[in-house]
Amino acid sequence: MPQRRTNNSASQSRSHSKARASLTTTKNSPVSSQPTKLWGGRFKTRTHQLVERFTTSLPFDQRLYPYDIQGSIAHCKTLHHAKVLTRKECQTIIQGLEKVLREIQRGRFEFRNEDEDIHMSIERRLTQLIGPLGGKLHTGRSRNDQVALDLRLYVREALTTVSSGLRELQKALIVQARRYIHVIMPGYTHLQRAQPVLFAHHVLAYVDMFERDKGRLSDALTRLNVLPLGAGALAGTNYPIDRKFTAKLLDFPAVTTNSLDTVSDRDFVVEVLNACSLLMMHLSRISEEFILWSSQEFQFIEMSDSFCTGSSMMPQKKNPDVAELVRGKTGRVYGHLMSVLTTLKGLPLSYNRDLQEDKEPLFDALDTVTDSVTIYAELIKRLKVRQDVMAEAVQSGLLFATELADYLVRKGIPFREAHAIIGNLVGYCTAQKKDLAHITLTELRSHSSRFSKDASALLSPEGAIQRKAQIGGTARIQVEKRLRVLEKRLL
Ligand code: ARG
Repeated sequence: MPQRRTNNSASQSRSHSKARASLTTTKNSPVSSQPTKLWGGRFKTRTHQLVERFTTSLPFDQRLYPYDIQGSIAHCKTLHHAKVLTRKECQTIIQGLEKVLREIQRGRFEFRNEDEDIHMSIERRLTQLIGPLGGKLHTGRSRNDQVALDLRLYVREALTTVSSGLRELQKALIVQARRYIHVIMPGYTHLQRAQPVLFAHHVLAYVDMFERDKGRLSDALTRLNVLPLGAGALAGTNYPIDRKFTAKLLDFPAVTTNSLDTVSDRDFVVEVLNACSLLMMHLSRISEEFILWSSQEFQFIEMSDSFCTGSSMMPQKKNPDVAELVRGKTGRVYGHLMSVLTTLKGLPLSYNRDLQEDKEPLFDALDTVTDSVTIYAELIKRLKVRQDVMAEAVQSGLLFATELADYLVRKGIPFREAHAIIGNLVGYCTAQKKDLAHITLTELRSHSSRFSKDASALLSPEGAIQRKAQIGGTARIQVEKRLRVLEKRLL
């Protein structure tokens, strides 16, 4: 699991305005005009506290700490491998880093805004713990390639979490498809009843969508799984480090090939946000259906009480809030995609501080997607299908209009003509207030002499289903086949 909410940062990463709002806070943390940190020899005055608060990424990048330390340990080993650090120095630094890690994990680490970001925080503490030797860790490295590494490591793990969440969700859908395998429901186009379909067929449509989502995530992973460390600030590094050695330590199959591109590239953030957006779009669509289906108007499904909420005023209400919120959060994830794309569009090579704006949208999108996928698997497990209501909805004869038209085609009538004949028949039924399911052979024959006795067999949901027997169709044989493949692959 990626370290999602550490220590006191519980909701900080979600609250985009937190660091900025604090600029005007007067009550608890008055803005003093006292300068704080001194940036080494180049600077005569210290950073203004306003600037410090405005520029810090610590409130949201502290969740990168395990990856930052992991990357630093690998970098340290690489420096030793390149004979820049002695074995002893390398060991002491690694021990110091491990101590910092433990401090953070135990909530004993002090995050100070004046450290600016997680990278500086960890290095500052390391130096406090092991002395000036700590200052050697950053040899041949810049925060520019360091943050690119941390982010890739973070995303790599987060994607695994999202993918396994998606798999759980698929499993829940597959189990429901099997549980209600015999149920037939109206299939819709334009939200108008169109043709009967198997409920399982409808549910498995979402399994296919989520399969593509997993594909997009693993596709993004292939491209982001490349070591950026060694690019330095922008041009590479003056030390004879072996980047492939570092890559092996951190389990990257390859290293990046252009240092300028490496420190300025956030394509992978956009790709992940894109995959997250599509995934949320799918969740939003299923939410929309569940909301409709659980309404008084449809009554196709029942959501568990434990996954709904009541109204503070209307005692009869049982609201599908989880589905509504997932639908709502979809907009938020789309927004993050747009936000990062917009941040990137005007940037000259190579690193620019604007890039720090990649983190909050990325983290929030990954949190939102992970939470949504997780809660959805549980919601689906608890869904009940009102088979009686679905069965009744599917009885309406209008769902068989296409069956009758295709019957006439089989009797030699061109499809367009058959379409018109059945159109007339439907008009006749509507005028007579008669359902197509109750039409007599005489009435059928008055519309076309090609109708004979066997036509009445067409007016059953089961028959309509069974005739759709091509790959991808809703015939039982096809749905069963697909369900078995999915059960074998995913359960
Ligand atoms: N907090 C920075 C970020 O997220 C880290 C890199 C800072 N680099 C720099 N040259 N100021 O992008």
